[in-house]
Amino acid sequence: MSVAPLSFEEAKAEHARLGAELTRHDALYHGEDAPLITDEAYDALRRSFNALEATYPELAKVSSPARAVGAPASSAFEPVPYAVPMLSLGNLFAESEVAEFLGRIDRGLRHQSSEMVGELKIDGLSLSLRYEHGLLVRASTRGDGSIGEDVTANARTIADIPHQLVGPAPELLEVRGEAFMTRADFEALNAQQEAAGKKTFANPRNAAAGSIRQSREVTKRPLRFFAYSWGEVSEDGLLATHLDMVRSFRALGLPTAPETYRLVGAEQLIGYYRHIAKARATLPFDIDGVVYKVNDLAAREVLGFVSRAPRWAIAHKFPAEQVTTILRDIEIQVGRTGALTPVARLEPVIVGGVEVSNATLHNEAEIQRKDLRVGDTVVLQRAGDVIPQIVDRVLEHRPADSKPYVFPTRCPVCGSAAEREADVGDQGGAVRRCTGGLLCEAQAVEGLLHLVSREALDIDGLGEKQVSFLFETGRIRTPADIFRLEATDAAREDPLHRCEGFGAVSVRKLFDSIASKRRSPLERMIYGLGIRHVGRTNALRLARHFGSYQAFIDGASSSEGRARLYGVEGVGDAAISSLSRYFSDPASAAIAIDLGNVVEAIPLKVARTDTAISGKTVVFTGTLQRMTRDQAKAGAEELGAKVSGSVSKKTSYVVAGPGAGDKLEKAEALGVTVLTEDAWLALIADASTATEGS
Ligand code: IVH
Repeated sequence: MSVAPLSFEEAKAEHARLGAELTRHDALYHGEDAPLITDEAYDALRRSFNALEATYPELAKVSSPARAVGAPASSAFEPVPYAVPMLSLGNLFAESEVAEFLGRIDRGLRHQSSEMVGELKIDGLSLSLRYEHGLLVRASTRGDGSIGEDVTANARTIADIPHQLVGPAPELLEVRGEAFMTRADFEALNAQQEAAGKKTFANPRNAAAGSIRQSREVTKRPLRFFAYSWGEVSEDGLLATHLDMVRSFRALGLPTAPETYRLVGAEQLIGYYRHIAKARATLPFDIDGVVYKVNDLAAREVLGFVSRAPRWAIAHKFPAEQVTTILRDIEIQVGRTGALTPVARLEPVIVGGVEVSNATLHNEAEIQRKDLRVGDTVVLQRAGDVIPQIVDRVLEHRPADSKPYVFPTRCPVCGSAAEREADVGDQGGAVRRCTGGLLCEAQAVEGLLHLVSREALDIDGLGEKQVSFLFETGRIRTPADIFRLEATDAAREDPLHRCEGFGAVSVRKLFDSIASKRRSPLERMIYGLGIRHVGRTNALRLARHFGSYQAFIDGASSSEGRARLYGVEGVGDAAISSLSRYFSDPASAAIAIDLGNVVEAIPLKVARTDTAISGKTVVFTGTLQRMTRDQAKAGAEELGAKVSGSVSKKTSYVVAGPGAGDKLEKAEALGVTVLTEDAWLALIADASTATEGS
């Protein structure tokens, strides 16, 4: 693609920006039940964030509250594991990238150029329909691609989805396709909703997604379905091409999208794209682009996958939609690290099918560079799944009395000075930060939330609402106060169990979950302090270096101790100067010391050197079904193995799950042992008992 890869600095800035966006939307969604963006936009944001971390693993080490909150789990639906994962598609936006895409296919197929198929990219949500002996037995959503959600009951009410396939059907056939709503049905539904005083949907896709995940109401919501692919199938190899598949779907009674064509060469692909772009408005449903797919199914096997997307298909998306609106105000939000982030409050406007009334302005320099002023008419853009951006202002419409925006030099929350630090790394000092530290309420509450987050002390029952309440009522001001909560509460006239939102049972549970963390892993305590540039990896390095919490406090508090940190592998200048700043401020140093008074640190487990996999190097790739990447890594490391992100001759094992791509290929080419996840689990079960030579 012609899109230049981001430099590390750019990736880091993007990571910080996406992280801040996620945190903000998490808070709005979980805390206030007032999401500003659709679930899809949120998922897309999280995907971009994860993809960035996957591409730049260093970034995953940067402390980010965005990582603490998991994707909202939907417990209402039974999980459906996929033997063949539901993949996504890579994107291209510029016509010039079409030839590059074909070039990659051409090289992958060793110049046996393949014919392509052009299809509409339906803007709905993907479903997997499982037919056994021709009967629909299950319908499920994409979920995370490896595990979907069971929506069989709702899918059965969709007229387009046959309960029984027509004619002889394979023993097992998983049909994949898109559920969607036509624009006319969407408008009628919204009119009905409005008349009934119920909430309306922003666009047909949201209406479709909302409907399929809703209980019992689908009958009233006319969903449609087009099949475009398949997952597991019992009689593999019967069909030669995608167009054969489309024909066989139709013969089985499954609807497929119109405007599907055989195409050869970049010119025809682009011709198809332009034709569809023109026809777009006349289609009865929304599309967000076209999809090009290799027609020959055997050629697809050769091309395979890279990460979660096939190499043999790509989406050519329509360009970003731009609209103009008025910049009503610029508000400043204060994050955990004190960063002042400007947010644009906009005259609400629909762009890319979503109503937008806020947009991040990133930082002070960005406002200056774009010379944005309150009252300006601004150009707002939303490209594909990306969060809306202000890309420009319309000078002709600028009010005569408008004034350049003056960025505050005091924190809007606590009034402390807000300074731009010429800091090492981190956006080159573009960010203005509140110097109030934990005296600043915004930072204190965020800091407490960070401490209790899943990757830090992992205390249940302390969400944003609870922490804000406990902070505002003076029950918890510092991290150590959390562990004194039960004692201080007993002495209060208004104990927690009498406060709104806290029943006796929930208070008991909260105290128990706090008590269970009175002993916590050393690295989690260090990470939980929320010191800038001390993310999970640096916390682990520090824990390894110091061995105990007291030694960490002593070391980080003294300049000699800190000087020795320059020798610790991986702990960089930014982290060292940040530790130095944190511990030279008596207020923050006291907070760290006090945490040591109430929580006992569990020292790091020392990696074993006596197991069959001690000293071996392992690479995990693809989707793991039985454990998370973190668990896999921790398990391997505990037994003394080293986990690496790339495959080389020195790699001992590659553990490959579904969707494994380049790394698997490389392992095969180098003759490295490739294991399934189950084989790996069996190996480590043996390794942990049988020591080498025994
Ligand atoms: S093929 C292995 N074809 O787009 C390839 N997907 O951005 C899997 N989509 O998750 C996808 N129309 O929900 C394919 N004609 C089409 C499509 C299509 C819409 C959706 C699908 C997928 C997403 C990827």
